[in-house]
Amino acid sequence: MSHFIITIDGPSASGKSTLAKKIAQRLGINYLDSGAFYRSIAAYLIEKDVPSEEESFLSTFLEGAQLKLKYEGSFARYYFNDLEVTPFLRKEPVAMKASFIAKQKAVRNFVNKNLQEISKKGDFIADGRDLGSKVFPFADVKFFLTATLESRAKRRELEQKTMGIETSFEKVLEQLKLRDEQDSKRKIDPLVKPEDAFFIDTTSFTSEEVCDQMLFEIKKKFSVQPSFFRTFICIFLKGYFSLFYRFQVFGEEYSRKFLGGLVYANHTSFYDGLLLLTLLGPNTVFIASQKVMNKNFLIRLITSLFPLILVDEKKMPRDFFRSCNRAIHRGCPIVIFPEGARSTEGVISPFKEGISSIIVHCKVKEVLPIYIGGVYTIWPKGKLLPSFFKKITVLVSKPIQVSGHEEVETKNNRAFLTDQLRGRLKNLEKHFKDTYECRT
Ligand code: DC
Repeated sequence: MSHFIITIDGPSASGKSTLAKKIAQRLGINYLDSGAFYRSIAAYLIEKDVPSEEESFLSTFLEGAQLKLKYEGSFARYYFNDLEVTPFLRKEPVAMKASFIAKQKAVRNFVNKNLQEISKKGDFIADGRDLGSKVFPFADVKFFLTATLESRAKRRELEQKTMGIETSFEKVLEQLKLRDEQDSKRKIDPLVKPEDAFFIDTTSFTSEEVCDQMLFEIKKKFSVQPSFFRTFICIFLKGYFSLFYRFQVFGEEYSRKFLGGLVYANHTSFYDGLLLLTLLGPNTVFIASQKVMNKNFLIRLITSLFPLILVDEKKMPRDFFRSCNRAIHRGCPIVIFPEGARSTEGVISPFKEGISSIIVHCKVKEVLPIYIGGVYTIWPKGKLLPSFFKKITVLVSKPIQVSGHEEVETKNNRAFLTDQLRGRLKNLEKHFKDTYECRT
């Protein structure tokens, strides 16, 4: 798959970097801060006391210059020539100088070339002033954020005070006014809203609210049209279960509306995956264990028709979470069987903790529990072929809302969350046994 790029443009302190970082984390992609590129040049010029007023000087100076970026997790370190400039980037004189030199064509060309080169190496969300209009005109999704001058000044004042920088509201307001003027009135690539960008005024929203709004747009944009073939298989399976079984679903309205989240179910039979496909539709993505895939030809055959995210139960690398994130943000339901394998007794076995790790790492907000009843007697583990004309009952519960992901990061809390999720499925199992099983 080719790499994708999301751009956010907007005036200073409109919330671009906060939101770009949040979205980068939620999608498992890297954040590309174009302002930091201009700041890196400015910081070098200031720190090394290089006279840079002359436009012709900067153009020659940048010809042999090198700007490098090294990611340490989600944190980026910036190097300009022989100097690490990361510690100086947030200083106000550096910001002012960056805004000043950003008017020059040679500087903009240098930064843009570097941004375009880096963007070829992965999926990025980039923020700046001219990213959607000039640097990445073919970006997959573009946003333009703004807010009133006063609210931007308040945010910037708070940000600077948190960093221990002495400042006042009036001073910040003046600086922002000046920077707005410089950034939007310069001749080359001024701050403009790209025509095809989503416009969001962030003044009266929290960053969480704006983040959700942006993720919704991203999800809509990336949501894949399922192939005719997969759609056909789902319709066929629905017909198959209705024809050969007394097939009943309770709570179907929850699965119908469920886009881009984690679904978990009990696992007693080969039929489970197929039943979930009929409920969740052709965009369903399954998480499957590498070990089972290597062993089982039938599972390999069935699942080769649908997207799979493979996992080695012992280690869940960054790439695995990245794939989950992508699927979620493409509006796909991701299915996991947290027991790991089909239960041999027909009752819910203990859960593995992988489900909680996915919830934490991918900041999953909604989890949908589904109990599949009746199939254990129809096609249990070890039986070659299924029996027919029996009753299958599927119970879909209301989605569980998950918040406070940071608190769940410790092992103890993950175990607690896993237990809670299992508890919800056990409740459905009890409901099934009390209400439906005796009538099977
Ligand atoms: O986003 P920031 O405050 O870190 O940016 C610092 C300066 O760099 C900003 O005042 C204008 C300039 N800049 C630009 O001209 N174009 C960009 N795409 C990003 C930043």
